[in-house]
Amino acid sequence: MKIGVLTGGGDCPGLNPVIRAVVRASLKLGHETIGFRHGWKGVLENITMPLGREEVSGILHRGGTILGTSRTNVYKVENGEQQALETFEKNGLDALIPIGGEDTLGVAVKLAKAGVKLVGVPKTIDNDLMGTDFTFGFDTSVNVAMESIDRLHTTAESHSRVLVVEVMGRHAGWIAWYAGVAGGGDVILVPEHPFSVEDVCAQIQRRHDTGKSFSIVVVSEGAKVATEAATDEDGSYVLSSMKKDAFGHVMLGGVAKVLADEIEDRLGFETRHTVLGHIQRGGSPTAFDRVLGTRYGVRAAELVHEQRFGRMVALQGNKIVDIDINDISGAIKELDPDLYKVAEYFAD
Ligand code: F6P
Repeated sequence: MKIGVLTGGGDCPGLNPVIRAVVRASLKLGHETIGFRHGWKGVLENITMPLGREEVSGILHRGGTILGTSRTNVYKVENGEQQALETFEKNGLDALIPIGGEDTLGVAVKLAKAGVKLVGVPKTIDNDLMGTDFTFGFDTSVNVAMESIDRLHTTAESHSRVLVVEVMGRHAGWIAWYAGVAGGGDVILVPEHPFSVEDVCAQIQRRHDTGKSFSIVVVSEGAKVATEAATDEDGSYVLSSMKKDAFGHVMLGGVAKVLADEIEDRLGFETRHTVLGHIQRGGSPTAFDRVLGTRYGVRAAELVHEQRFGRMVALQGNKIVDIDINDISGAIKELDPDLYKVAEYFAD
């Protein structure tokens, strides 16, 4: 069989280990692989690259994706589906392995309905994809964020400041919670629990009343404020931009600054903010993400070999399983409420 591979949506550490594993396993199983560049854009424009043993050599430890990525949405382009089907036909493709998050795999779900034989691989640093316990990239992001919080701790303590650190997480607070708990954050704010600035200030004040001279607040970029500060038209996110991407998502960022200003004004404590941004998505994947990506890639190639299409590989417990790709769309995997309760024991 000839198998196409693409990576779509935001890049994340672990994509290259998946690509390498798909190629190596496919070759062993007697199949050929080619790459589409820049996600669905490469499919629409028929931009391909060879993807053999040579191309995937030495990429296991490299962040990003050798195929390139984009947020192009096939279904936002006139005749997009038709163009995609033509590209597959022209390349004599028998199967496709799209590696991506909710948006990229959402396109895959529609193409599968149009007859494309595919197996999806779940990816997002946000870890908010349904059907899988963990997506690769998440562990690396958490470790980057945790190390940053460790660094912020020492400077916050030296200067007796409050430091507000904004981490990624559009709809779910997985990164904020994991990095916040691992880094000893004093206040952790996640999208699943809208916060009030008043409560945050009260929490910091209580901590300072016990003799502490500094505090660390960890906030998800998608954290929602209950009533105050700058909110978007639905009164939900705290934003610095109203620009939207091709999947209609508002580009987030800005909650840390708004919150830091409020804390300083209300409490009089010197407060600074830090936005970690794309640093969380860059660089070398952790061992966990390399191994998870490798396991996903191998299983995706096996499923194609077994001609079991319309599936997505997933991690459930410590087992790699496969689920109906239709089951992932429409819902977000929110932060586990039991985890949230754990962090509450450490508030002030
Ligand atoms: O989907 C992963 C993610 O990193 C989110 O956490 C973040 O909101 C978004 O992508 C940022 O996307 P970009 O900067 O690539 O448009």
